[in-house]
Amino acid sequence: MFNSKIKRILITGGGGFIGGEVIRLLLKESNLQIFNLDKIGYASDFTGINNQIANLGKQYENRHKIIHADLTNYEQTEDAILKSDPDLILHLAAESHVDRSIDNPRIFINNNIIGTYNLLEASLKFYLNLSDERKSFFKFHHISTDEVFGALGFEGKFSETTRYDPRSPYSASKASSDHLVSSWYHTYGLPTVITNCSNNYGPWQFPEKLIPNVILKSFYNQKIPLYGDGKNVRDWLFVEDHAEAILLIASKGRIGESYCIGGDSEKNNKEVVLAICEVMDQIKPNNKPHESLINYVQDRPGHDFRYAIDFNKIYREFGWRPKFSFSESLERTVKWYLENLDWCEKIKNKANYDGSRIGLKK
Ligand code: NAD
Ligand code: DAU
Repeated sequence: MFNSKIKRILITGGGGFIGGEVIRLLLKESNLQIFNLDKIGYASDFTGINNQIANLGKQYENRHKIIHADLTNYEQTEDAILKSDPDLILHLAAESHVDRSIDNPRIFINNNIIGTYNLLEASLKFYLNLSDERKSFFKFHHISTDEVFGALGFEGKFSETTRYDPRSPYSASKASSDHLVSSWYHTYGLPTVITNCSNNYGPWQFPEKLIPNVILKSFYNQKIPLYGDGKNVRDWLFVEDHAEAILLIASKGRIGESYCIGGDSEKNNKEVVLAICEVMDQIKPNNKPHESLINYVQDRPGHDFRYAIDFNKIYREFGWRPKFSFSESLERTVKWYLENLDWCEKIKNKANYDGSRIGLKK
């Protein structure tokens, strides 16, 4: 998968949903030593990684090391880089929930912008001290979102050349971090690559996001909140597909480039909710269909209407396209959550999150 000279990888945000999936894939399909830098915030959990290590065998235990550090602290960040001595950095750490960014934008500015700035500074200092040989394969891969491009109407798709037009504090903070990464490449010569991906779903996602939230609400027979008229469109990608695309770009992506990653699976929110309700009707029938729980609620402020991704560049250059179908992977995800209700309760309690509506204007 990687150039054999690459031995050590530093992943930021590996306690989160997507970072955890990337680490599970790396454990299975590479020999790399993995350093997992995370501040261990409300959405962090290592159960999925620990289960994977337990399944693969004890000899894998030393392959994954957690570094408890916060990117908003420069000293901790620099220390983590020196400790891990990486050949590759995958930067996933971020505050990731749009609704939380509406309630508390400062957290997003600090973690996503200042955090990325600290990581870039420390990475550049580290990179400049590497031997020419190690410099030749070192890479800094920044994982970002399609939300930096703003909102589409009924037509068109985002691509690598789409103008940035973020609309929420979250997407503005991610857009800023993309610009910082790009400027560290152009100005200082740090070898960077950026990926912008659409909505992910799958196991181990913190239950505040649409799909796990709806699964849990329908399981407990609670009202299912659908924002606005339910017609906003997202392009859904199964998280295993995203992890595979990340490792592909980390290994083969061209320096200084950005790549869009998408699911080829546009759905409006009502369609997603109905699809979950249909699976629930089959595996946990109620006296009434689960769709009767749908409750139209006040819209998200600044709610982006539609996202869609043209992933032709990554397909053309590397032959990547999503492997997993939405309906099968959604069913798998619903079943996973129903089998892991204890984990959901545990992580929600730890985060002091009771599933109430967040993200309305102050
Ligand atoms: P997540 O919220 O599940 O996990 C993020 C992790 O980053 C958490 O463990 C958190 O503790 C850590 N983190 C945050 N700030 C930190 C800091 N200052 N220092 C150290 N660790 C910190 O998020 P996710 O859904 O796994 O998203 C991962 C990345 O992918 C993010 O950068 C996000 O913007 C991007 N992304 C997410 C999606 C999606 O649908 N979830 C889609 C495209 C891109
Ligand atoms: O597009 C990529 C982005 O996808 C990532 O960068 C973000 O980190 C990730 O959180 C996600 O952002 P969204 O805002 O699209 O995801 P969320 O799950 O919060 O909402 C998906 C859609 O569902 C959105 O249109 C709002 C709506 N929604 C959400 C929730 C939580 C509801 O209708 N009801 C809900 O309860």
